[in-house]
Amino acid sequence: MKDEKRGRARGNAPATGPRPGRFITFEGGEGAGKSTQIARLKDRLSAAGIEALVTREPGGSPTAETIRDLLLSGKVKPLGAEMEAVMFAAARADHVDETIRPALGAGRWVLCDRFADSTRVYQGEAGVDTAFLARLEAVAIGGYRPDMTILIDVSPDVGLSRVAARSGAAGSTADPDRFETDTREVHMRRRQLFLDLAAAEPARFVVVDGSAQTDTVAEEIWQAVRARFPVDLGHAGPAAPDADRDRIGG
Ligand code: TYD
Repeated sequence: MKDEKRGRARGNAPATGPRPGRFITFEGGEGAGKSTQIARLKDRLSAAGIEALVTREPGGSPTAETIRDLLLSGKVKPLGAEMEAVMFAAARADHVDETIRPALGAGRWVLCDRFADSTRVYQGEAGVDTAFLARLEAVAIGGYRPDMTILIDVSPDVGLSRVAARSGAAGSTADPDRFETDTREVHMRRRQLFLDLAAAEPARFVVVDGSAQTDTVAEEIWQAVRARFPVDLGHAGPAAPDADRDRIGG
C-alpha cells in the first residue's frame, strides 16, 4: 500500500541523514529557458566528472507523469486551485519517493525543472491558503529541500513571446498548457512571488537574468554552482557561505 510504502521509505531513509548527492532546482515563469539551462548545466557537470540526473515537475516518475497529463490538460481545473495543489503535491510525493530520494541516496546530483516553489507561486497566486500549502509541501517533500534553487527571471513579455514562438514553430505540436494561457497580470504576479521567495531565502536561491544570451545565462549559472559547491567542483575562488550544513528539514 502506498501509505505503508511512504511511511517505510521515510522511516528507513530519513532526510536528515547523510546525502552525498546535490539537489538543484530550477524555477521561473513560462519561457524562462529552464530546460535549455538545465541541459547546459548537466553538460558542464559532466565535463567536471559529475553525471547528474535531470528530472521535472509535475512528473519525474511514472505515476507523477500520469498526474501531470491530467493537470496540464486542464481537466482537473474545475476542481479548483486547492485540489490542483493537492494533485501537484501527490505527484511530488511520488517523484521524491521514486526518483529524487533514491538518486540522492546513491550520491547522484539531481537537476529538477520546477519543484515545491512552483506550487507556492502558482497555487499561492491562485489564492490557496499559505498554511495549507506549507502543510502539503511538508508531506510531499519529506525533508528533501533543494540545496540550491536557480530562479531564471524574465519578464512575462519576453517569456510569453518565447512560448508563442515555440508553439508557432513549423512542425510544432505544442499547445499552450493550462497555466500558459493565464492573463499577463497573473504572470506578472507569479514573477513577483518568485522574486519574493528568492529574497526570503538568499542562501538557497540564486536569481539570474533570463533575458540575457543563452551562453551568458549558462556561464552565470555555472559560476554560481561552482561557488555554491566549492568542494565538489574544485572552485579556487572565495567560497560562498556553506548554508547547506543546515539545509535539510528546515
Ligand atoms: P511545463 O510544460 O513543464 O511548463 P514549463 O516549461 O513552464 O515548466 O508545465 C508545468 C506547468 O505547471 C507550468 O505552467 C507551471 C505549472 N505548475 C504549477 O502550477 N504548480 C506546480 O507545483 C508545478 C510543479 C507546476
